[in-house]
Amino acid sequence: MVASIDGAAAVEGLSAGLSGAADKAMFAALRAQADVILVGAGTANAERYGRARRSGARIAVVSGSLSVDPDLPLFVTDAEPARAPLPLIVTTGSADAWCAARFEGRAELLRAGDEIVDLTAALAELGARGASVVLCEGGPALNASLLADDLVDEINLTHAPLAISAAAPRIADGPTTGAAESTSRAFALTQVVTHEGVLFVRWLRARS
Ligand SMILES: NC(=O)c1ccc[n+]([C@@H]2O[C@H](COP(=O)([O-])OP(=O)(O)OC[C@H]3O[C@@H](n4cnc5c(N)ncnc54)[C@H](OP(=O)(O)O)[C@@H]3O)[C@@H](O)[C@H]2O)c1
Repeated sequence: MVASIDGAAAVEGLSAGLSGAADKAMFAALRAQADVILVGAGTANAERYGRARRSGARIAVVSGSLSVDPDLPLFVTDAEPARAPLPLIVTTGSADAWCAARFEGRAELLRAGDEIVDLTAALAELGARGASVVLCEGGPALNASLLADDLVDEINLTHAPLAISAAAPRIADGPTTGAAESTSRAFALTQVVTHEGVLFVRWLRARS
């Protein structure tokens, strides 16, 4: 994730205004470690996700209601070699059949949970399929759910040298529950790198 000095995770609905060459290099380096890249439907749609061709990782879009756009470059397979695995959509057992049919031949549906996506079950299934590193690229709503379910082992954050001031989501931004103690998670600082005026920080989950 990338955020401004004042905590904004998007500028006018996109992360592009926060990211520069150094962050893009870090983004690619992190992708190179991943077996699966997990992303929320909101981010896949807003950022017009395509395939992670250079890293070889499989992209999995979390979309309980199948609101993800089937015409994203991610799902357009004409230019792909036949052997490339289809992207995954992590959805529910009750996902609308007509919506599901729009992804026929474009994506493989992974059903986890009945009414809402069960992220714990989804990650267990990805692990059972051989994924040892799942990199979540956001967005804030998906991050908040993963943190609430205590499924985040590591956070890699780029601090962009910008203050945005305008209203924007934080890197994890879920519905207000009124029970902060049940969703706050402790992390330990493990790495700090600066490059070209950009600060990169790695945090590891501190589980007691
Ligand atoms: N600064 C950064 O590094 C960064 C990174 C990524 C994104 N962003 C920005 O963040 C914004 C998009 O983020 P967002 O928070 O609106 O959306 P998001 O987290 O990308 O996706 C949220 C969607 O994921 C699906 N979902 C299914 N189960 C979920 C669960 N248990 N918890 C949460 N989501 C679940 C839902 O879609 P269904 O309705 O289909 O079920 C939900 O609407 C964009 O502005 C993007 O540019 C910034």
